[in-house]
Amino acid sequence: MPGQRNQKFMQALPGFRDFLPDDSAARNYIFARWREVARRYGFVEWDGPILEPTDLYKKKSGSEIVDQLFNFTDKGEREVALRPELTPTLARVVATHEREFKKPLKWFSIGRFFRFEKQQRGRLREHFQLNCDIIGESSLAADIELVALCIDILRQFGFTEKDFVIRISDREFWTDFLRERSVSPDGWDNFLQVIDKFGRESREKTIEKLGELAKPVLKVLSEGGKSEKLDRLVDGLRDRGLAEFVDIDVRIVRGLAYYTGIVFEVFDRAGNLRAVAGGGRYDNLIQQLSDDAVSMPALGFAMGDVVLGELINETPHARKKMQQAIAAGRKIDVYIVIAKEERRADALAQIQQLRDLGYRVDYPLTPMKVARQFQAAEDADASLALLYGDEWPQVKVKTLATREERLVPQDRLLAHLQAQPTLPS
Ligand code: HAM
Repeated sequence: MPGQRNQKFMQALPGFRDFLPDDSAARNYIFARWREVARRYGFVEWDGPILEPTDLYKKKSGSEIVDQLFNFTDKGEREVALRPELTPTLARVVATHEREFKKPLKWFSIGRFFRFEKQQRGRLREHFQLNCDIIGESSLAADIELVALCIDILRQFGFTEKDFVIRISDREFWTDFLRERSVSPDGWDNFLQVIDKFGRESREKTIEKLGELAKPVLKVLSEGGKSEKLDRLVDGLRDRGLAEFVDIDVRIVRGLAYYTGIVFEVFDRAGNLRAVAGGGRYDNLIQQLSDDAVSMPALGFAMGDVVLGELINETPHARKKMQQAIAAGRKIDVYIVIAKEERRADALAQIQQLRDLGYRVDYPLTPMKVARQFQAAEDADASLALLYGDEWPQVKVKTLATREERLVPQDRLLAHLQAQPTLPS
């Protein structure tokens, strides 16, 4: 049936989104806040390619991400993958251009990522991430700065410490634990994966996987886990008045294989959603990916647009803030009402001049009843309507909010508009 055949391409693929104007406006709102706060922290923007050699991820991202790759063989017989994350690309780029930049680098990027995941709430097959990374700084001051940046980005959306929490941990806490118990480093990755799944898998399964480590692990977890490094990190945030936003939680180890130190994840306080953001230190990745050519400490995090969008929509004050910003960004300044078609040429000359000056101006492309034109002006939330009709060479200027009207001679119109408080100066 032709109808059925059409249905296939009338829908986006599972896990992919169409961005209608409202969705695009919400996306731009998120990107603008991301960019603004990253710039406030002195980060500069960069980007990499969307397609990378599959090996880049096989080398160090960890099995979970490799299983989720959108990969294929290209026409040149190369094994390639749509990027599931940015960190391996960043490590490659930094290793290649290392000499061109003063350290530490503070780089951010906003882009699209692809993971062939089971589609579920908060998880799609295509999503956007903000990545913020600091390269070439091993001091804890960088970890504190990065967590503060993450907090301030979320605060910019109107969220408070009642809306979200950053759970912070340290992989070294666990690697020290394993070293003390003489567990060979070969088994560390597996162990960390079990801790990562703690609480998501059944208790029996976790205990079985941990074997003889089950008892000491459960003891450590029941005590909450203590670390002098983590205490110093929280102190650093307290100095900035940001300690309320974080909790120490050693159950956080992160799924990705390359992390080496402090790691963190951001969750909604209500606990309804998946992680909003996650990151940490990956001091060995650049060295490993560059086959020992370049070695630099590094740390960063990524925040996804999907869960963040859900959290905004679930948090009334954040949703209101977004709606107000979108409405303000969408409104136009002037709607030109062409009441007499003979005046269309005069109106168009005026429209061109106003647009050249930077005003947002709209008008009916084809003849239309005056009442419908005023309705269009209301719909576009225009500040002013200018009526071109029998009054010419005077123009009727109507302030839509107050309904106030005034006749202004055409040659004084520009000066009149420029003096209006409702228009941008
Ligand atoms: P990640 O935890 O895999 O970390 O992803 C970061 C964030 O991206 C998640 O917290 C989530 O909000 C979002 N995200 C991930 N996958 C999906 C998905 N399938 N659908 C919707 N949102 C998703 C990384 O990617 C690391 N590379 C972050 C990093 C940067 N570490 C150091 N620098």
